[in-house]
Amino acid sequence: MGEVIVVTSGKGGVGKTTITANLGCCLAKLGEKVCLIDADIGLKNLDIVLGLENRIIYTLIDVVNGKVSPQEALVRHKIMKNLFLLPASQIATKEMVSPEDMKAIVKELSPNFDYIIIDSPAGIERGFRNAVTPASKALVVTTPELPSISDADRVVGLLENFGFSDERIKVIINRFKPHMVKKGEMLTAEDIRHTLSLEIIAVIPDSEEVIVASNTGVPVSLNGSSKIAKNFENLARRVRGENVPLENDFETFSKGFITTLKDFFSKLKRG
Ligand SMILES: Nc1ncnc2c1ncn2[C@@H]1O[C@H](COP(=O)(O)OP(=O)(O)O)[C@@H](O)[C@H]1O
Ligand SMILES: [Mg+2]
Repeated sequence: MGEVIVVTSGKGGVGKTTITANLGCCLAKLGEKVCLIDADIGLKNLDIVLGLENRIIYTLIDVVNGKVSPQEALVRHKIMKNLFLLPASQIATKEMVSPEDMKAIVKELSPNFDYIIIDSPAGIERGFRNAVTPASKALVVTTPELPSISDADRVVGLLENFGFSDERIKVIINRFKPHMVKKGEMLTAEDIRHTLSLEIIAVIPDSEEVIVASNTGVPVSLNGSSKIAKNFENLARRVRGENVPLENDFETFSKGFITTLKDFFSKLKRG
């Protein structure tokens, strides 16, 4: 049975879809068989980030309506042959899918995969329940700004209500800007740790490479010359249970930031 992970957040636009796509690519690169589910019905952009929008024949809604099986609706990635997408439908609404539907779909897919990763919509209503119900682990994405963190905190509370214990919820800090931490313009790890009191599984820098990649339909982790690709690989290895120190997430930064980052980490460890 595959491990089912939901990528979620309180605030929208913090990088859930980007992280889902890149985590999927990296796990697939490491030899895992991966299925990504786009649960952001009505918006659907996981397909675009993966460059698969022209290959979609059936969607999650066709599966829910019994038109096709979950397997029949899967789209295989063009480069990573062990990576699959169950696409969302743009014309449907979240109300057309229930948490029970999602559970049944994931149950049917899970014997065929090592990992099933569900890209969640922002917010806390029906779409969130759809995405979270079938999962056994959650990755909560936040940027290092207070509104994002306080929304993340609200989501952590909801996940706990859904029965997620703290060990099954991990935090990803995305769009980290070391020069802003240095100038005191960004929250430190200490602040984030204090508010969420959960393990931080990855720190991903803010990088233009990510934006360029989303626009070309090739996730940055499939670009061999990308620096930030290593950050997504570190995340994937930690998800697999490998012991990759969080410090490694900063190898991509230039030497000038090292002092700031050492400070960041001493705070993180004390946190
Ligand atoms: N680490 C990053 N560095 C720079 N831009 C990023 C990063 N992560 C995400 N983005 C950009 O932020 C925007 C929102 O990301 P997305 O993954 O769609 O968020 P969500 O799924 O949470 O709404 C996109 O334009 C994406 O390219
Ligand atoms: Mg998204």
